[in-house]
Amino acid sequence: MASIVLKNVSKSFRDSKIIKDVNLSIEDGKCTVLVGPSGCGKSTILRLICGLEEAGDGEIFIGNQCVNDVPPAGRGLAMVFQSYALYPHMTVFENMAFALKVRKLKKDIIEERVHEAAKILKIDHLVDRKPKELSGGQRQRVAIGRAIVRNPYAFLFDEPLSNLDSGLRCQMRYELAKLKEQLRTTMVYVTHDQAEAMTLADKIVVMRDGVVEQEGSPLELYNTPVNTFVAKFIGSSEMNIIAIKFVKNNVEASVFELLSGEKISFRQMVGIKFSKSEKYQLGIRPEDIEIQPDNVVFMENKLSGTVSLSENLGGEGYIHVTLKDGSPISIKAKKNITEQPGDRVCLGIKINRCYLFDEQGNSIFGTERKRSTNIAEESKGKSQENSGYVV
Ligand SMILES: Nc1ncnc2c1ncn2[C@@H]1O[C@H](COP(=O)(O)OP(=O)(O)OP(=O)(O)O)[C@@H](O)[C@H]1O
Ligand SMILES: [Mg+2]
Repeated sequence: MASIVLKNVSKSFRDSKIIKDVNLSIEDGKCTVLVGPSGCGKSTILRLICGLEEAGDGEIFIGNQCVNDVPPAGRGLAMVFQSYALYPHMTVFENMAFALKVRKLKKDIIEERVHEAAKILKIDHLVDRKPKELSGGQRQRVAIGRAIVRNPYAFLFDEPLSNLDSGLRCQMRYELAKLKEQLRTTMVYVTHDQAEAMTLADKIVVMRDGVVEQEGSPLELYNTPVNTFVAKFIGSSEMNIIAIKFVKNNVEASVFELLSGEKISFRQMVGIKFSKSEKYQLGIRPEDIEIQPDNVVFMENKLSGTVSLSENLGGEGYIHVTLKDGSPISIKAKKNITEQPGDRVCLGIKINRCYLFDEQGNSIFGTERKRSTNIAEESKGKSQENSGYVV
């Protein structure tokens, strides 16, 4: 096991800078999940860590060692790809044993390690089969088994489950979560799947265009996103973002209004000044909105609109509503949905679960906020104190 630290790492392909001054601290024995839109640089980060790409600038540490000049084979990491990359002419046993044979380990040690990993992954009855005789899920287990037997400092997973159908994916996610507890080896895991990120991660790192937007525990990112990008990226069915204007401060509340004129009152926040000339954005998650009976006359923080689409998933679902000002808003319903397109509805929003962002999308309030751009500064301070960062 080992921690992995990236310090001011950049990478360009031809003239375009793909990874931009990234600072990242991957804790020993923990699972760090990288998420972000396609092309933001997640796989490139993994390839830089394992040495398949060379960093243009910056330093990469595995444990206490700077590995910039260490070739991939000397880094002691194991990578598992989306495509299983198994040798088709070898059996499961031979596939899993291959790296150990190359290392010239003794036959009985190789057998012991392969059988132990096969048992953990419940493929011990398949060791004599060739990859073509396996299902997708079984092949992926072999690929993971091949990584486990090497006893690496860390596992690097690049979307390992995305070729599987949703049922199998769900099952493998559960198995990986158990494996994580069992092995307690450092893991860096890239995925597009929210559920995988939220269930596997000790820490999630949200990337955009080669920079880290925010990092934190799954719940930290869900509860306190630093901007609308992270707010919309974390949480399945994304956060609703609605344009609002500041109206006035009352004794206890700051009053905003939607373009429709409907009012939203936040409890006043000490030290935050709002301006009528600036634009703001309200963030509210679909699970924090309820359809209310129309006869609640004096309800505060009430919006009205017209149903545009109902998605009934059986027992729960989503209702998509167009507000009076034309903004779309989604509501998560925890019951069978009876509302139909065209129905007028009244929406109650949980004001203490709302977020406020400025025009650029930066969070004005949530609670604690941690932005990755500060990490370079933090790491400078820490390396001087020699606490945590490897120098
Ligand atoms: N060898 C290369 N040469 C040139 N450009 C590259 C190379 N490898 C990656 N890129 C570019 O770098 C960017 C980041 O690629 P990367 O594969 O890291 O994205 P990603 O976040 O993993 O995306 P996805 O979610 O689609 O897998 C992309 O724009 C890609 O085209
Ligand atoms: Mg990728």
